[in-house]
This record gives sequence, structure tokens and C-alpha cells, in this order.
Amino acid sequence: MVYDNIVLIGFMGSGKTSVGKILARQLHKNFVDVDTLIESEQNSSITDIFENKGEAYFRSLEQKCIDELTQKTGQIIATGGGLPIYSSIPEKSLIIYIDADFDVILNRLSKKEHAKRPLLQDEARARALFTQRINTYKELAVFSVDANQTIQTFIHVIVDFVLDQRVL
Ligand code: S3P
Repeated sequence: MVYDNIVLIGFMGSGKTSVGKILARQLHKNFVDVDTLIESEQNSSITDIFENKGEAYFRSLEQKCIDELTQKTGQIIATGGGLPIYSSIPEKSLIIYIDADFDVILNRLSKKEHAKRPLLQDEARARALFTQRINTYKELAVFSVDANQTIQTFIHVIVDFVLDQRVL
């Protein structure tokens, strides 16, 4: 299989964006972050989109965004944590799961990063969401990486895996 793009999935705050930026640099690919793209296209923060237009609307933006992005090839795409749950990721995407435990994520996130995520505000609900979603992440992924350590300790595992694949 020749993959068109690399798509990073995982729970909120697992490090998809940070991993994606480093990967893109090391593999000489373009990096795109779906949440950032939606925010700039809507000229609105994720929190405001959730508040003013609702989650269902946000989910429709995510599907549209991933469909449009994957018209192009050779990119590293970081998704929001709910994208693989509510949207279908086009075939020929090399899906990599950034697999971090819920408590690790909570401890690692700064207050500012935590505040940006509407679905992380109620801890019990967020924990339940995490439990509901992990199987889907694992099933969709071609490759999962244990992301409970610092990025520097596991980035080479992803780079080595990707270099063994055929990505345009
Ligand atoms: C969401 C994850 C967020 C963002 C939105 C909803 C989710 O992205 O898309 O707040 O449903 O898990 P991150 O995974 O980058 O936090």
C-alpha cells in the first residue's frame, strides 16, 4: 500500500500537534493541524464554535476539513481527538495513534492548553470519553506509539516506522 498522507490520531492533549511538527521537520513534509485550520477558516476558537454553533456543527467542519486536506498528498496531518470518532478518515492515510494514558495527559497539560478544550472541562466526563474512544483509536491505527514519555524519547520510533512505509 502506498499511503498519501500521515494522519495522527489520539485523545485530546496526547501530543499530536507537537509530534506532528517534529515529524514534519524530520521527514521534510508539510504539517497541517485540523483544529488550527478550522479556527482560522471560521475565524473563531474551538471553544467559541462549540458554544455558538454546537458540537454537531464542529463535527461537520472536521469531516469537510479532512476530506479537503486529503485531496493533497505528502502531508503530516494532526487531527482533533474526536475526528476519527465522528468522521471517516480517507483510505490511503497512514494512521498513527499517539497513545497516552488519561492521567498522563491531565498532568502534562498546562492550564492554558486545558482551558482550550471544552470536552476536557468536566474530568469525570472526559475520563469516560477516553475509555469509550480508545478502542476505536486502536482499531483505526496502522501503528500505535506509547506516548507516555517525553516526545524526544519516542519520536524516533515513529520516524523509523514511517521510513519503512511508502508515503508519497
Ligand atoms: C476534541 C478534541 C480537540 C478539539 C475539540 C474536540 C475531542 O482537539 O478538536 O476540542 O472531541 O476530542 P485536540 O485533540 O487537539 O485537543
